[in-house]
Amino acid sequence: MKKVVIHRPGGYEQLCLEQHVDPSPRPGEVLIDVEAIGINYADCVTRMGLYASAKQYVGFPITPGFEVAGKVAVLGEGVTDLTIGAEVIAVTRFGGYASQLAVGRSQVFVKPERLSMVQAAGFATVFLTAWFALFELAHARAGERILVHSAAGGVGSALVQLGKIAGCKVVGVVGASHKIDSVGALGADAVVDKSRHDLWHTAEQMAPEGFDVILDANGVTTLNQSYRHLAPVGRLVVYGFHGMLPRKGGRPNRLRLLWDYYRTPRFSPFSLTTRNRSLLGFNLSFLFHQSNRMQAGMTQLLRWVEEGRIQAPPTRTYPLAQVAEAHRDLESGQTVGKLVATP
Ligand SMILES: NC(=O)c1ccc[n+]([C@@H]2O[C@H](COP(=O)([O-])OP(=O)(O)OC[C@H]3O[C@@H](n4cnc5c(N)ncnc54)[C@H](OP(=O)(O)O)[C@@H]3O)[C@@H](O)[C@H]2O)c1
Repeated sequence: MKKVVIHRPGGYEQLCLEQHVDPSPRPGEVLIDVEAIGINYADCVTRMGLYASAKQYVGFPITPGFEVAGKVAVLGEGVTDLTIGAEVIAVTRFGGYASQLAVGRSQVFVKPERLSMVQAAGFATVFLTAWFALFELAHARAGERILVHSAAGGVGSALVQLGKIAGCKVVGVVGASHKIDSVGALGADAVVDKSRHDLWHTAEQMAPEGFDVILDANGVTTLNQSYRHLAPVGRLVVYGFHGMLPRKGGRPNRLRLLWDYYRTPRFSPFSLTTRNRSLLGFNLSFLFHQSNRMQAGMTQLLRWVEEGRIQAPPTRTYPLAQVAEAHRDLESGQTVGKLVATP
C-alpha cells in the first residue's frame, strides 16, 4: 500500500508518499481499498505540527487524514454485516492519506448511491462537524438567524445546508467574490462578501437585534465581533482558529502565533450571564470514544442525502502524489467546497 507520511512538522515538502506493507484488519475491523480521500484544513494544521489531537494520539511520524471512501477488501474477525466489495465511507482519527485503511466497524458507513466516491470521501468530516455544532451544541431552531463564517468552505457549506434544514435564516460570510454564487446555490438567504463590504456593518443591517447562532472557525480575526453580534440567548460556536495561520508558504510564523494567542479574546462569565450569551466549543477528533453519538449523526446525515435534502459541495480532485498542491490551495483561503485526493 502507499501512504503519505509526515516525519517532522513543517511545510509542503514534509508530505512524503511512501510504499508500506499492506495492513490487515484486526478483530472488529474492516480493511478498505481506498478510492478517494477527503482533505481537511485540519490536515494542514497537523502537517504544521500544531494539531492538538495529532500530538496527543500519534505524534510524528504521522499519516494525516480523517476520512476515505472505497470498497470493503477484507472483513476482520467478528464483522458479519458487510460484504466484500461494498462501497463505504470511513472516518478515522488520522491515517486516511493511504491506498488501504483498516478501521473499526463502527467507523464504517455504507455509501449512499447518490454520492460518487469522490463526493463521499469529502462528506463525513465536514457534515459531522456541522451537525454537531448546529444540532448537538447550538440547538438551532426554526426561524432563528444564523451567521456562518467561511460559508463556501468545507464545513461552512455543510453548515449552510444544515441551517436551512433546521428552518433557520442563514447568512453566509465569504472572503472572496468568486465564492458568493456557491453559497447562494446551497440555499443561504444572504451572502456577505467581506472582501467588498464591511462585514459587521452589513451584518447589523441584516439582523439589527443580532444573530441567534454564529459559527466561527476564524478565531482571533472575528471572535470578538462575533460575540458582540449575538442576540439575547445567542450562541457563539467556536470550532477552529485558522485566522492565526498563514495563507502562503505552509509554515506558521511563531511570533505571530504567540501574538494571536495572547490577543484571542477571553470571555467573561459575568458578561455571558448579564448579556444572556453562550459560548460553545468542540473538536470532534477528541470525541471518537462517543461512537454512538457520531453514528446517530451519520445515520441522520446519510438519510438526508438519500432524501435529496443535502447536496455534496463542489469538489476538486488531486492525485495523492500531489497532495502538497491541495494543501497549498486549501491554505490559500481561495478554495470552494471540498478538496479530495485519489491514491
Ligand atoms: N472543531 C472541529 O471538530 C472541526 C472539524 C472540522 C474542521 N474544523 C475547522 O473548521 C475550519 C474549516 O475547515 P475546512 O476543512 O472546512 O476548511 P475550508 O473552510 O474549506 O477552508 C478554510 C477557509 O477558511 C477561511 N480562512 C480564513 N482565514 C484563513 C487563513 N488564515 N488561512 C486559510 N483559510 C482561512 C477561508 O475562507 P473565507 O476567506 O471565505 O472565510 C478558507 O477558504 C478549520 O478551521 C478547521 O480546523 C474543526
